[in-house]
Amino acid sequence: MQHILSAKQFSKEQLLEILSSAGEMEKQVLAGKVEKILQDKVVACIFFEPSTRTRLSFETAALRLGAGVVSSENATQDFSVYKGESLEDTTRMICGYVDCLVLRHPEAGTAERAAKVATKPIINAGDGGNQHPTQALLDLYTIKKTLGRLDNLKIAFGFDPKHSRTIRSLALLLTHFENNIFTFVCPPALNPSDDVLEDLKSRGAKFEIIDNLNNFGDYDIFYANRLQQERFEDKAEFEKYRRALVLTEKLVAGTKTKILDPLPRIDEIETAVDALPNALYFEQAKNGLYVRMALLKGVLEG
Ligand code: CP
Repeated sequence: MQHILSAKQFSKEQLLEILSSAGEMEKQVLAGKVEKILQDKVVACIFFEPSTRTRLSFETAALRLGAGVVSSENATQDFSVYKGESLEDTTRMICGYVDCLVLRHPEAGTAERAAKVATKPIINAGDGGNQHPTQALLDLYTIKKTLGRLDNLKIAFGFDPKHSRTIRSLALLLTHFENNIFTFVCPPALNPSDDVLEDLKSRGAKFEIIDNLNNFGDYDIFYANRLQQERFEDKAEFEKYRRALVLTEKLVAGTKTKILDPLPRIDEIETAVDALPNALYFEQAKNGLYVRMALLKGVLEG
């Protein structure tokens, strides 16, 4: 059994294998000839937090590979946790019915807790502000597909590194590749947390933290992310910073910087940017299908 819990768990070789498998999945989908290799499997997608992309792309991935799906988009209300059942007991129950559990939860560490009692693979679809490893894998796939490389990148992350599980996970994955330089762009109150910076230092990563977009055109990739409203203790702080830094059409047009965003977007990118060749975020979300197909194959086929 192989859980997918954190971006920390992957070796470079495993990452390249997943990207290669996702490329094969993309070819099969585009050719309209997907091998139904998971025909006798059932995947549970249980979400205790809202999602558009992650849940739908996992469910579509399972269905395209021939697996059945059971799911909840609002498990906090729909499941017996509402009556007081623990995450651990809920996990034990689900593992009795299905072959794999894709789990999203607002609390950091829940995927690890579930994995401790699980008898089937757990896939972390986002646990609080901690990790979102499958998002980071599809981000990596998108960068490789667009730029043809994962090394020698100047990559900026904005605008809420403090609360963003996707920034945390992607930065970790990119440390496996040579000579990448990270810039965190955010108001100082939203700087990356110490544990993220310690992880990067321990992996020998080069990084800086700035509070402006003056050098936007110098980056190969700008990874934008909305301010994570749901993780702010002080809502006034969210309102104070939500439009402090924005990728505008004026800033982006004419540069070569490619823009990724795990989405949903709120204020961080002007909609006028969508029509520019810099905008990769809708293509990025589509790539989630191929990467999640590859992950389900890997987890369920062993
Ligand atoms: N990127 C992402 O996790 O989107 P959803 O919250 O819509 O799944």
